[in-house]
Amino acid sequence: MSHQGLHAHLRTRERTHPELVLVANVLAGLRETPKRIAPVYFYDAVGSALFDRICELPEYYLTRTETQILRDDGADMADQIGENVLLVEFGSGSSIKTRLLLDRLRTVAAYVPVDISRSHLLAAAQRIASAYPHVEVLPVCADFTKPFTVPTPRRAPTRIVVFFPGSTIGNFDPQDAVNLLRLMRDIAGPAGGLLLGADLVKDAAIMVRAYDDAAGVTAAFNRNVLQRFNNELDADFDVTSFRHRAVWNAAASRIEMHLLSTRRQRVTLAGESIELDEGECIVTEHCHKYTLAAIREQARHAGWAARQHWLDANQYFSLTYLEAVDR
Ligand code: AVJ
Repeated sequence: MSHQGLHAHLRTRERTHPELVLVANVLAGLRETPKRIAPVYFYDAVGSALFDRICELPEYYLTRTETQILRDDGADMADQIGENVLLVEFGSGSSIKTRLLLDRLRTVAAYVPVDISRSHLLAAAQRIASAYPHVEVLPVCADFTKPFTVPTPRRAPTRIVVFFPGSTIGNFDPQDAVNLLRLMRDIAGPAGGLLLGADLVKDAAIMVRAYDDAAGVTAAFNRNVLQRFNNELDADFDVTSFRHRAVWNAAASRIEMHLLSTRRQRVTLAGESIELDEGECIVTEHCHKYTLAAIREQARHAGWAARQHWLDANQYFSLTYLEAVDR
């Protein structure tokens, strides 16, 4: 088969089941008012690399601040967590923050990183296993918003503790966040714990700048989702005709990322046509910002009681340790 023939064959092959689900989900979001693309689609290889660059930006205080809190108060957190636990990390990615915790925990029964990206997950699990030879590493490739089975470690743990850093919880609208926290509660069991990272409400200008940086990395990250659909879903977005926007929605206590269509246009995705008006926005992300009271309240609805909060000196970011309560 010629090179061109192979290429044509790949483009016209039948879609697999996960691809069909992806297409259906993306189309459903683009038919809503306002149009929506779920933030989970940001993270193809290019998007993941752009997100790593976001974490290094001077304006993006979240990663740096949370890392500093883990360095400063990790020993305290380890005291709360206790000995010989099974640590389950939701959306473990490259497992970088985990190291700060593993460095402080004297004994760990096992570490279970959970992530949807198999290559990322397995590479990170390998690195953790070789850096922490006394910790059994049991990776689970799964969508953590759906129930999954926690593998049984060789050594029986005292309890299960969920680690959910990064303020990823902020990507979930309130009801979805409660549902996710309840799923964590079910996985951790009646004696379980949860170490939760959440970004705090602060001066709006600081929050907006974190999502609209001077170098334009976040803009590139936002627009890349359209390029990804062009590459993977036979879409024909004119990426340059969408402007990145970050706005603070005070009533909903969230930063919203939008892609604003600078002209009236029609886009085709997997053979379906979508119309956009001039100035119409696609909502690509909600990043909820919390007060400590809001964290406790949301967690309470999901069967968790807050035991301790740790904040940086500016009170920009929080880590909270929670314990399961009987409901
Ligand atoms: C990975 C969801 C925590 O909301 O701050 C960063 C994603 N989006 N810049 C966040 C993100 C734009 C990030 N989370």
